[in-house]
Amino acid sequence: MQTLDSVSAMQALAGELRAAGRTVALVPTMGALHEGHLDLIRLAATRADVVVVSIFVNPTQFGPNEDYTRYPRDLEGDLAKCADAGAHHAFIPTKDALYPPGYSTYVNEESVAKPLEGVSRPAHFRGVTTIVTKLFNIVQPTCAIFGQKDAQQVAVIRKVVTDLHLPVEIVTAPTTRDDDGVALSSRNAYLTPLQRTAAAAIPQTLETVKSMVAKGERRAERLTAEATHLLSQFRQIRIIYIAVVDPLTMQTQREVVPGNSLLAVAVWVEETRLIDNALL
Ligand code: PAF
Repeated sequence: MQTLDSVSAMQALAGELRAAGRTVALVPTMGALHEGHLDLIRLAATRADVVVVSIFVNPTQFGPNEDYTRYPRDLEGDLAKCADAGAHHAFIPTKDALYPPGYSTYVNEESVAKPLEGVSRPAHFRGVTTIVTKLFNIVQPTCAIFGQKDAQQVAVIRKVVTDLHLPVEIVTAPTTRDDDGVALSSRNAYLTPLQRTAAAAIPQTLETVKSMVAKGERRAERLTAEATHLLSQFRQIRIIYIAVVDPLTMQTQREVVPGNSLLAVAVWVEETRLIDNALL
């Protein structure tokens, strides 16, 4: 696997791949890679001739009191995992290369990004859409792979791709879960064993809501009330939001539309913020 640490080297490679008619799948990551990321890389390898993984902890998507400085970093381990999972190139730009002094251009999606995460993390998606658009411009991928765990992120990126006519196919991969059902996330590393037990209540709650829908319940209010009740049993958990939403627009739905509704959950497990979701 080749490692590229400058924008110009990555652009030169992208030009060569394009000229040679090779398709390219990009897997954007912030590193601290886990099995969920490796599943994205494996999926990428089935979608294109060449797989590029970007590793960059993007400062602009973290709020002022968020965990940018303590976000887990393990570049050496990440590069070994990327190579094992079948990546051909790792793009590892520096912060100064992507955001040099005086940087002042941002990409802002103004609808899908507003609810849910957008309420408690107001600048988050501006950072995500800016870095993802920059990566698309530099790497020029044919397709890009994102995890369904970050369902709103995927919906926002799809909207940007449509609105800005970006020639990239967005591919979503199913959420990878641990044995206790907890969705894999780099932030799980922050959890103590007791907090981890509480975190396992999130996927259990999603399953309960799914089975209520399977038995015919359609009222979003009933479903969110049950989810709130189940998660409130744990003193370590503080609910940020629980909502039934349209998976494309993220607008709240009053009634579940089977196959076209998403239960989105965000909680604090003490000082760790976790999100998860289930298609209903
Ligand atoms: O999902 C992530 O890890 C990040 O939001 C992304 C897409 C790599 C942008 O920094």
